Amino acid sequence: MDYIVSGGNKLYGELPVYGAKNCALALLGATTLTDEEIVLTNCPQIVDVQNMLQLLQTLGKKVWRVGDVVGVSGALNTTIVTTPLASLIRGSVLVMGSILAKYGQVELPLPGGCAIGSRPIDIHLDGLRKMGVDVCEQDTQVVCIGKPRCVTYKLRFPSVGATQNLICASVLSNGKTVLKNCAIEPEIVALERLLINMGAKISGVGCSTVTITGVSSLHTATANVIPDRVVTATYLASVVCAGGKVTLTNCNPHHLRSFLQLVSANFSTKVYKHEIQVDVTTKASSYGVVQTAPYPYFPTDMQSLLLSMSCYARGQTTIVENLFENRLLHNASQLNKMGGNVVVDGRVATINGSTLVGADVFARDLRGGAGLVVAGLGAQGQTHVHDVEHIHRGYANLAQNLNCVGAKIHTVN
Ligand code: UD1
Repeated sequence: MDYIVSGGNKLYGELPVYGAKNCALALLGATTLTDEEIVLTNCPQIVDVQNMLQLLQTLGKKVWRVGDVVGVSGALNTTIVTTPLASLIRGSVLVMGSILAKYGQVELPLPGGCAIGSRPIDIHLDGLRKMGVDVCEQDTQVVCIGKPRCVTYKLRFPSVGATQNLICASVLSNGKTVLKNCAIEPEIVALERLLINMGAKISGVGCSTVTITGVSSLHTATANVIPDRVVTATYLASVVCAGGKVTLTNCNPHHLRSFLQLVSANFSTKVYKHEIQVDVTTKASSYGVVQTAPYPYFPTDMQSLLLSMSCYARGQTTIVENLFENRLLHNASQLNKMGGNVVVDGRVATINGSTLVGADVFARDLRGGAGLVVAGLGAQGQTHVHDVEHIHRGYANLAQNLNCVGAKIHTVN
């Protein structure tokens, strides 16, 4: 499936933001910690969530969905996660800690590398080993056996997924676990809050040191999936590239401070508790030197958006990608096809502002694909973005939503 983006249409109006993919996946992974029902509200209707729900069903969970409300309940009838679904969705690794905590064993496919770089899970597995779990890595599978025991463990890097897995692995253990150097992304705070609502004892919510005192069982709870900060940034980047004046509602501006700082330094921006209004009438000067890093610093998931925005700035922007080694080159080459001036040297991209013109470009991953659509909104003529299936993994109706505020994007099969 492809998008044909007709550039040059300014955006005006209001766009509501929906629930975050990365939050929903983590919360859904945690539903395996109890047989009782977990209800999620504001759960986004995106392909990755559909696949995660299907994966939970193949494990034995009962799942219902009405609009953006999802319920998951029941016991697992297997602790073996099988391939076709697990390989479709990288977030499937997030069931590992929870299944292990409740059932004392789990087997799942080892996630391989992907378009944005190698995706090792050594920190997840090292933490589990320190918790006394017997971890056996085979060619394509990892088999973990043993109930996680309480430990003090310092993650060598604040990995989002490893933090989530190790917290979930600890909530049913035999005593007090102290995890140090944890990631502190908003999606982790949301997970910690759900676990506490389920009866877990966790202190240090949102801190890099988290203390978990094991309990014997967890129970039913409800959680609201937090607004998607990457979708919020995508909408902002769309207005920056296309021009116009848009109000984003149902968002949490606090969760994207680093991105918002760059936008408000260049454009008239009003920020409220759950709303952001941006008014773009001129070009940005430049975004300076921006490095991706774990929260609260500039997120790697917003890097491709900034790359596109930088093409429309007047001066030079430098972006350093510190998280995923292959996350710059592809979009740089696609933007250059559109007349961009992006030079990549390893993990560093230097972008000199120019005028973009429509071209045939290829989405190769979720966030990069969204970056190309955003770039097309400001380009002269038509940008044909191929393979937008990648985008649908994490965006609900990106084209239709942008069209509601004046974009012209046609979907072709
Ligand atoms: C999550 C997000 C993803 C985001 C990323 C970084 C979900 C479903 N996905 O992915 O959108 O881009 O955080 O913000 O929430 N690493 C290791 N060993 C490990 C784990 C990670 O070396 O065991 C490295 C990775 O290769 C990468 C860095 O740590 O360079 C960050 O990865 P991590 O924070 O784990 O990202 P994910 O949880 O996979």
